[in-house]
Order: sequence, then C-alpha cells, then structure tokens
Amino acid sequence: MIILGIESSCDETGVGIVRLHEDGRVEEMANVVASSMEQHARFGGVVPEIASRAHLEAMVPVMREALAQAGIERADAVAATVGPGLAGALLVGASAAKGYAAGWGVPFYGVNHLGGHVAVANLEGAPLPHAVALLVSGGHTQLLEVEAVGRPLRELGSTLDDAAGEAYDKVSRLLGLGYPGGPVIDRLASRGNPAAIAFPRGLTKRVDEERGHRHNFSFSGLKTSVARYVEAAERDGRVISVEDVCASFQEAVCDVLTMKAVRACGDVGAGVLLLGGGVAANSRLRELAQERCAAAGIELRVPSFPLCTDNGLMIATVAAQLIHEGARPSGLSVGTDPSLDVEVPLVHAE
Ligand code: KG4
Ligand code: ZN
Repeated sequence: MIILGIESSCDETGVGIVRLHEDGRVEEMANVVASSMEQHARFGGVVPEIASRAHLEAMVPVMREALAQAGIERADAVAATVGPGLAGALLVGASAAKGYAAGWGVPFYGVNHLGGHVAVANLEGAPLPHAVALLVSGGHTQLLEVEAVGRPLRELGSTLDDAAGEAYDKVSRLLGLGYPGGPVIDRLASRGNPAAIAFPRGLTKRVDEERGHRHNFSFSGLKTSVARYVEAAERDGRVISVEDVCASFQEAVCDVLTMKAVRACGDVGAGVLLLGGGVAANSRLRELAQERCAAAGIELRVPSFPLCTDNGLMIATVAAQLIHEGARPSGLSVGTDPSLDVEVPLVHAE
C-alpha cells in the first residue's frame, strides 16, 4: 500500500510518499520539500500570509516532483497535517490533500504534525520504544512522552514564551546577523567562549519548580539579557566579541534544553531521547545531549537533518503506522485545527 503525506503547517511545503509493507515496515519512496524561508528573511520571522501564498504556489509542483520521484501516478491513501500550525498554511495543504484523495477515490487521513516529528524515528532505525521527544524549531519547543509511534503523545512541558528557534532568530536579528539565526549563531559560537558571559537559564530555579515549571522552558528573559548586554556595551563604547555572545547565548539555550530533556527521561522512566525540529541541527545541542545521555545511560536518537525539519515524509509515515494499526480514515469533512492537542494523533470528522 502506498501512502502520500502533505505537510504545510509552517513555511515548508512538503510531499512525502511511503510504502507500507504487510509486516508494518514503512519504506521511503519520495521526499520533496519547498521552503518559503527566503521570503520571510527581511521580516526576521515567518509571516503567515506570505507562507500561505507560497504553499499555494508550491503545492502542485512539489506534488508532481514527489510522484515522479516515486514513479507513481497516484497513491492508495492521502494524509495531511491538520494541526497544530498556522491557520492559512494548514488549510492549503489539507485542502490539496482532500482534493487528491477525492480525485483518486482513496481515503484521507488528517494527522497531527508533532506525531510526524516523532514518526520519522522509525524510518531510520528500530521501532521507537518508550521515549521522550524534545522537539525544537522556530515554531515549537516541547518535551513529549512517547509511548510508541502513532500513539497519543503526552506533553510534559513546553515554552511559556519564545520557541527555541525563535530565540535564535531574535538574538541573530539584534546582533545584525540576519535570518534564520540558528546556523549563523551556531557557526560563530564555535569560535567563541561559552563561559564568557553568564546569561540566565530560564525556569531552572527551585521556585520555578514549585510553580509547576519543572518541564517548561522560557527564552524571552535570555533574549532580553543578550539585548541589555549589547546595549550596555554600545553605551559605554566597548567593543564586544560577537563570537563570545553567540557562544554564551548558545550555551544557555542548550544547557537548559538538554538538562530538562535528560531529567524528563528519568522522571518517566524512558530509555531513549529523540530530538526533532530545525534546532536539532545545532552542533552544541547534539554534543551536550550526547554527553548527558551517555552519563545517564540513555540512548540518543537524532534523525538525519532533512527528517528533523518539516517534511511530508513524516506525515506519510505517521499515517502509515495508523493505517497498519487499523485506524479508520478521517473523512473529507474533517477540519484543520491550528491549536490541535498533542494527544490527538488522528482527527476524525464529527
Ligand atoms: O524545523 P524548522 O525548519 O521549522 C520551522 O520552525 O519553520 O526550524 C527552523 C528553526 C529556525 O528558527 C532556525 O533558526 C533554527 O531552526 N535552526 C537552528 C539551526 N539550524 C536551524 N537553530 C540552532 N542551530 C542550528 N544549527
Ligand atoms: Zn515542525
């Protein structure tokens, strides 16, 4: 059985195609992604209306290329992200998916984007066991408990303000380094001293814990702290080391992310930590996660970079898993939901 998945929740238009074997094995057939990131660069972040229009323009070409890559003309089922994500962006992908499903006369599955980030783990290794997933991108920062791929996720914590990638993008902007901020800060940080400036680690105090923030994150205080540091230097006419600022900022982000992720594994008794999202490309995040997982006896799984960022393959994969378990289709009247609950892997029409 061949399953096609469409992703359009943020600024990537993705179409992925998989083959579901009878034993439940899922095999990649195609993965094509178009990104509108460059169109958002001068705004320093994703502009929802621009993203929606870009999805509309990219949808058919990306679909054609994915079908050609897989060497097929139609699939046996079509899946799309129906949430969470940007309202207009979700509508474009879900509507296209329903159109193809209706045109081909095949079932439609409306799936959860976050479940997709988790599902890619099964494409590159043994089926994911009980795990904690740390999803970090421009749009999300979440710690999730995962029973298995396709099962409801349980949110342990998330960010109270900026997403981790958003913090990178905002700090990059205030340092005049452009958008997206992650890759350039990562590069400059490698030449700086991570201990040069003591930037704050958000929500790591005992009082934060007492207020129920053990698994939550906050990056806006860190961003403000970087801004204050730069302003003070300008005021005093001091020359700052951009490399040191980048390294110290990056250390603060990665220290908190990995400390809380590894601690969460211990709290729920999970033996695996899975990383996902664009920030999972970060060299220091990977290094520190590896170090701390090894010390705690936890296996670290990091999907290859094209599977960490948003793509259609992850949507096809989670749908394949659900179909293998006998889930019934969503139906064409199912809606999109920008704030879809993490506990809903597959959405059905009312
Ligand atoms: O998953 P992704 O492509 O999707 C969206 O959120 O749309 O993630 C993009 C985010 C951006 O905020 C970018 O700055 C960040 O991931 N990012 C990184 C790195 N590469 C990309 N952050 C830190 N280090 C990196 N090497
Ligand atoms: Zn995502």
